[in-house]
Amino acid sequence: MDIRFRQMVIALTAFAVSRAAVAPAQTQSQFKVASPDARTEVLVGTTGGRLVYSVRRDGRALVLPSVLGFEFRGAPTLRDSLRVTGTSTNSYDSTWTQPWGEVARVRDHHNELRVSVAETSAPERKFDVVFRAFNDGLGFRYEVPAQPSLGTFEIQEELTEFALADDAKAWWIPSNRPRLDRSEMLYSSSPVSLIDSVQTPLTMATRDDKTYLVIHEANLVDYARMNIRGGRMENRTLHVALAPWVDGVKVRGHTPFVTPWRTIQIADRAADLAPSVIGLNLNPPSVLPNTDWIKPMKFVGIWWGMHINTMTWSSGPKHGATTANAKRYIDFAAANGIGGVLVEGWNTGWDGDWINNRNAFSFTKAYPDYDLAEVARYAHSKGIHLIVHNETSGGIENYERQLDSAFALYHSLGLDAVKTGYVTDTAGGGQSHHGQYMVNHYRRVIETAAKYGIMLDVHEPIHDTGERRTYPNMMSREGARGQEYNAWGAEGGNPPEHETNLFFTRMLAGPMDFTPGIFDIFIERGTGRPRRLDESRPRTTLAKQLALYVVLYSPVQMAADLPENYDKQPAFQFIRDVAVDWDTTRVIDGRIGDYVIVARKQRGGREWFLGAITDEEARTFDVPLSFLTKGERYVAEIYADGPTANWATNPLAVAISKRTVTSASTLHLVLAPGGGQAIRIRPAR
Ligand code: NOJ
Ligand code: CA
Repeated sequence: MDIRFRQMVIALTAFAVSRAAVAPAQTQSQFKVASPDARTEVLVGTTGGRLVYSVRRDGRALVLPSVLGFEFRGAPTLRDSLRVTGTSTNSYDSTWTQPWGEVARVRDHHNELRVSVAETSAPERKFDVVFRAFNDGLGFRYEVPAQPSLGTFEIQEELTEFALADDAKAWWIPSNRPRLDRSEMLYSSSPVSLIDSVQTPLTMATRDDKTYLVIHEANLVDYARMNIRGGRMENRTLHVALAPWVDGVKVRGHTPFVTPWRTIQIADRAADLAPSVIGLNLNPPSVLPNTDWIKPMKFVGIWWGMHINTMTWSSGPKHGATTANAKRYIDFAAANGIGGVLVEGWNTGWDGDWINNRNAFSFTKAYPDYDLAEVARYAHSKGIHLIVHNETSGGIENYERQLDSAFALYHSLGLDAVKTGYVTDTAGGGQSHHGQYMVNHYRRVIETAAKYGIMLDVHEPIHDTGERRTYPNMMSREGARGQEYNAWGAEGGNPPEHETNLFFTRMLAGPMDFTPGIFDIFIERGTGRPRRLDESRPRTTLAKQLALYVVLYSPVQMAADLPENYDKQPAFQFIRDVAVDWDTTRVIDGRIGDYVIVARKQRGGREWFLGAITDEEARTFDVPLSFLTKGERYVAEIYADGPTANWATNPLAVAISKRTVTSASTLHLVLAPGGGQAIRIRPAR
C-alpha cells in the first residue's frame, strides 16, 4: 500500500468505525464498523455482561443483538461476565487475481473492527472478535490468545447466535440425518422460525423481499464444520451447531487459536448473490509457489455406465475400467477437445460390498485388465489428463496410510488429477463426515495433493469454505445432490426445480461437480427401454442439460453421458465449445427455486456463454445483450427447447439456430417446462 493511500484509509476508517450514540444503562459503549459503501453497519458491545453484535442495513435491523461465546467441557462457559478491554480498527482495499474462477479479479474492500474482551472475574479468560464489513456482507471470527487459564480445551458448543430480525424465508437442507450425514438432500423452504437443524450456506429472503442473507463460514481449518440450529419454533434466533466427534465434543485444541469466519452475505436481489466472493476474501492467499499447472478442463469418464448398470466398478464381464475402454474414452476426449478422462473402478477393492469393505481399497494396485502406466502413457501422448479415482468409502486410516505413496506414484506417471470419494454414513470409524476429524483429513489430502502437483475433485466432501484461494489445486467438489441421483435416486430423480435451488444455495459456497450433459434422458441404453416417469431419470430437457454448463459453475466440468450417446448429436457441439474458466460472470435474473439466467465471459477470450434454466414452469424472458462489447458484431449459436419440448413428455426436442447480434440486441428466450437454453456468443469475425 503506498503511503498516501494508507493515510486516506486511516482517515476513512476513523469515519467508518466509531462509537455509537449513548448506550442504555447496563450496556457498555457500543462500537460500530460500517461497510465501505456505509449501507451495512455492525454494532458490537456488552449488555448484561454478554458480548453481542447486531447488523443493520440502510438503517434497518437485519440481525438483532446476538450473543457470542463458548461452552467448554470441564471449564466454565465463556460468555457471561465480559467487559470490553480494547478495540482497534483497520481498513483494506486491494484487488487480487484468481488462477481460475467465476471471475478473474476479486476486490477485497472492507473495514475491520477488533473488539477485545475479558472476564470480569476469575478465571479472567480473554478473547478477541474481529469483524469485517464488506459491501457484500460481513464476516467475524474469534481469536483466542494463549493464556494461563485457557490452554488446552474441549469446546462443547460455540455459542454464536444469529438473531434474525425478520421471520425471513429460508432455503435449506437438513443437517440432522444420522443415516445420511452428507449434503445430498433436496432443498426445502420455510420461515426462519421453523428451522430445526440445517446446513450452510443457508439462504434467506426477508418477507418484503428487499434483502437476501446467506449464513456460511470461511476458512474452516482444524475446527468442526458449522451447522445451524433453529430456535425450536419459539423464535427467530439461529444458533451455531458444530459437527461433533464421536464422544460429543465439538472441537479439541489449545490456545492460541482462531475459529473459521462466520459470514453473512447480504444482497438486495437474489441475482446479486452470485458470484459470491466474500468467503474467498476471508481465506489466506495462495500458498502454492506456482499455479500454472492447475488447468480447468472438461472431462468424460468411465462413470455413468456404473450408475446405469451397463458397467461395474468391480471385476467381471462388465468391468468398466479396462485398458481398452480407457483408451476409447481418451480417443473420444482427444477428438472432441475435452481435456480429461476419469476412470473409476481401476483399483482393487471394489469386489463385494465396497462400502463396508472400506479398508480393502488399494490406491496403487490396479485390476489385472487395467494397466495404469500404459493408460497414463497413452493419455499423455494424446494430451489428455487422466483423472485417477480414489473411493475411500470413509476408510480414512486406510487412505491416509497410502496417501503419500499413491500420490507419489501418480506423480511419477505424470498424472495430475484425482477424484476422491467418501461414500459412507460415518467416516473413519464412526466419525461425522463433518466433524473436526474429517475437516483435518480433507485438509491433509489437499496439502498432500498440492505437494505432488495434483488437482482435486472431491465427492462427499466437507462443505466448501473457500479453500481454493489458499490451495488452488482444490478445484471442485460434489457436496450436494448431483446428477447421479437421476440414475438411481429413490424419488425418481431430482425435481425440475432442483438446479434453480442449487444456484442460490450450495453454489454460493463454491464450484460443484454436478456432472451435467446427459443426452440419453430416458436412459434407454441402461434400461433397454425408455424409463417410465415414475423411474429415475433426469427431469430436464436436453437444452437444460446444456445450460447447466454455464449455470452451475465448476472448473472441472464433466460431459457425463456415455460417449456413444453423444454420437451424431448436433447439440454436443455446445459441450465441445463451452468454456470452463471465466473472466466475468453476470447473473441477469433469477428467483430461488424458479429460474436463473447467467452470462459468463470466457477467460482469455472474447466469447460469452449464456445459460438459462427454469423449474417445472414454462417461462419466457427478454435478455438485452448490453454486456457485449459495443460496436462489435457477434454470432449467437442458440440451443433452445424445441416447440413441444417438456421435461416429462418430450425432453429431447432441441432447436439449434444462429443469428447475428450486437450489444443493442435483445434475445427472446422461450423455456419449456423443466427446460433451459444455452447460447454461445462469439465474435462474428
Ligand atoms: C459417489 C460419487 O458421487 C460418484 O461420483 C462415484 O461414482 C461413486 N460414489 C463411487 O465412488
Ligand atoms: Ca419453483
